[in-house]
Amino acid sequence: MRFTVVGAGAIGRLWGYKLSLQHQVHFWTRSQIQKLTFSFHPVEPETTSQTACFPANQQELLQHSDCVLITVKAFQVQQAILDIRPFLRPGAPVVIMHNGMGSQDSALAQLPDNPVIYATTAQAAFRPTEQELKHTGLGQTWMGALNDAGTHHEHLAELFDQALAPCQWHSDIYNPLWQKLAINCSINPLTAIHQCRNGELAHDKYSEELATICNEVAQVTSAEGYPTSGNELKALTDKVIKATSNNFSSMNQDICQKRTTEIDYITGYLIARAKAHRIEVPANTRLWQQIKQLEQKYNDQ
Ligand code: PAF
Repeated sequence: MRFTVVGAGAIGRLWGYKLSLQHQVHFWTRSQIQKLTFSFHPVEPETTSQTACFPANQQELLQHSDCVLITVKAFQVQQAILDIRPFLRPGAPVVIMHNGMGSQDSALAQLPDNPVIYATTAQAAFRPTEQELKHTGLGQTWMGALNDAGTHHEHLAELFDQALAPCQWHSDIYNPLWQKLAINCSINPLTAIHQCRNGELAHDKYSEELATICNEVAQVTSAEGYPTSGNELKALTDKVIKATSNNFSSMNQDICQKRTTEIDYITGYLIARAKAHRIEVPANTRLWQQIKQLEQKYNDQ
């Protein structure tokens, strides 16, 4: 199959590289480069690194793509769709994969002639330098349709699974999206505020705060129609903290590198949905304010 991967961040490069072992892959990026080259360092330390080279930003390759995978940050999705839409083949499935929620309605409205599929992944990757990509952790990927046309593309989950397992289709993608939101609401702001690795949150001193965050998220998730408890979400979060203990979360890296974070699509989205259900979420609101203040500091510079 022919793929276009939109976005050359860590997750875009990871999926692009893995898909390219069985398929044709082309990248679409914000810069006007014609080629994208990087060294891929596999998750298994004993395996040798590979140099990967891909064509980039070629309109004909986008036009002929059988599937487009958008991996930009949530707040960049709308612009990315505007950029690719003139060249997108009607009927080509578009898979959108990012942390957080809240980009779904506009993506659906922007893509009336395409199957729209959302995905969430617990795979972890990191770019130590512009020319390198390190696969730092394995994890579950979920995929599911957002519109009727998308329901005919369940086979894509199998194809993604062959590229980088495990990947499964979910008949209600909002369910795994809410679970991932809970994990991101707990891990991302705290690791960004305390500038620590995910694993540090396993320390007793964070236990109560994490439980409070998870309780609030559980109330909102349940009100959205996905019944869960604070204990369940805390157990899930603890599992991810352990599995990714060596990693710096994406928000930690964004704050460290003075980039815009995804806070409005993670904690901000939770706060908006809490408001709609008249649920108080003071711990999450405090975290949202703290991250906004950190962003403000470097935006004012
Ligand atoms: O955003 C991230 O970094 C990841 O989604 C997660 C799961 C928190 C692991 O670092």
